[in-house]
Amino acid sequence: MVNLALPWYCARFADLFFLFPQPKQITAYLLFSVTTVVIGSLQFGYNTGVINAPEQKLRAFFNDTWVERYQQPISPGVCTLIWSFSVAIFSVGGMAGSFSVGVMADKFGRRNSMMMVNVLALIGAALMGFSTLSNSFEMVIAGRLIIGLFCGLCTGLTPMYVGEVSPTPLRGAFGTLHQLGVVVGILIAQIFGLESLLGSDRLWPILLALTAVPAVLQCFLLPFCPESPRYLLINRNEEELARKALVKLRGSEDVTEDMQEMKEESMKMAMEKKVTILELFRSPLYRQPIVIAIMLQLSQQLSGINAVFYYSTGIFKSAGVTQPIYATIGAGAVNTVFTVVSLFLVERAGRRTLHLVGLAGMAASALLLTIALLLKHIQSLSFLSIAAVFAFVAMFEMGPGPIPWFIVAELFSQGPRPAAMAVAGCSNWTSNFLVGISFPKLEEMCGPYVFIVFIIFLIIFFVFTFFYVPETKGRTFEEIARGFSGSANATSNLSQTPPLEGKGSQSVSPTKEKVTMQ
Ligand code: GLC
Repeated sequence: MVNLALPWYCARFADLFFLFPQPKQITAYLLFSVTTVVIGSLQFGYNTGVINAPEQKLRAFFNDTWVERYQQPISPGVCTLIWSFSVAIFSVGGMAGSFSVGVMADKFGRRNSMMMVNVLALIGAALMGFSTLSNSFEMVIAGRLIIGLFCGLCTGLTPMYVGEVSPTPLRGAFGTLHQLGVVVGILIAQIFGLESLLGSDRLWPILLALTAVPAVLQCFLLPFCPESPRYLLINRNEEELARKALVKLRGSEDVTEDMQEMKEESMKMAMEKKVTILELFRSPLYRQPIVIAIMLQLSQQLSGINAVFYYSTGIFKSAGVTQPIYATIGAGAVNTVFTVVSLFLVERAGRRTLHLVGLAGMAASALLLTIALLLKHIQSLSFLSIAAVFAFVAMFEMGPGPIPWFIVAELFSQGPRPAAMAVAGCSNWTSNFLVGISFPKLEEMCGPYVFIVFIIFLIIFFVFTFFYVPETKGRTFEEIARGFSGSANATSNLSQTPPLEGKGSQSVSPTKEKVTMQ
């Protein structure tokens, strides 16, 4: 008898088509362009994760340099100071970089800015890579600062470009690719950081300098990617160039609908004055979306995720795990797998639902971790802390990981978008910095109860998201912005616009989806 069932890989492929309702919108050229730009996201992840494994090697290097200069060993206090400085200065660079996104993106364009910022990656890599040869720990610190600047710019430019080139019905799935780049970068850094690979006494400078490789690769590939058609049309008034870019991205000569939507936005923008950062807070039109954008960024960082990514080895150790480094790599792997899960769910379940599920799941996992830390004296229960951390990370990637990064680009139209990305990025980096520096102290003060602090934050952000965050799935930028202006004018039509002022179940219930056909 002939077996008519599809082989498993064909079935999976069919599933993909089912999940993405309009496969014809995914062209090879669009995939190539998005993959090229998310190399920037990978850089952010790599440099976030890379510093943890070689901590002892770096400390030894600080000491050697000190002995050579002053003929005496470094004091533990000074050594820790230089170490903390090398870790934290990355976020300081990130804050400055993310704040400069708006100006660069508007002045040079999205793609060209991404090209230019790679110079920073090369400088940072060279400083860190040659630090041992030059006997200078200052070069590590300077290198981390410049790499932070570079990553801050990447975290604004990449999601902005991806949001602007993606077809409306797939904007969330493509937006999640930024986070996928980040988590893959973290995982690569964790694996390369193993002592048997590049985390050794001799090779750690290469581990830090490796960031130059993706930078060079991206410089070769970016010239083959188009500038964002929205930027070309709306900011530069280059209609023909915008059309050509869209035709290539969509793989179809008929891009009338996309062009029409952008033109409407362009006309609207021509009537507005330029939106500065200050304006975002002053104008009633933007106040609501900017508050939502900031709160979502805070919910990502104050969830405590980087307490895990910066300090998981210590957390596992204190919970009695014997091989903490492998548990840490396991967390990186779970992180990657669940980002892929979110990628497939985001266009079905919606941003708001996934964010809520993620926050609630993280709170439950943090509670489990607290119990595991309290029971650490029972050796056979050490698996509980691993399970709790894995669940915490998995729930993070369902929503709070990917969504805040791309939803900001969705909440604003072309005019205010760059300024909003700058404000949101800066809030993210600042809260990341605060968690990074305060967690060790917090742990000292609260002991096994330390994650209760994050549970409280998670509950606050859950309530906020429930009442104030609108669903943006399937809406054009224009429709989303109109929704906010509608609510600012208190004339919002709830059947057409996102629920913006939800102070009760009626106004927060997800609206019927409108998917724009191309
Ligand atoms: C997000 C956060 C970043 C964190 C990462 C973990 O991208 O912005 O700070 O380290 O997720 O996956």
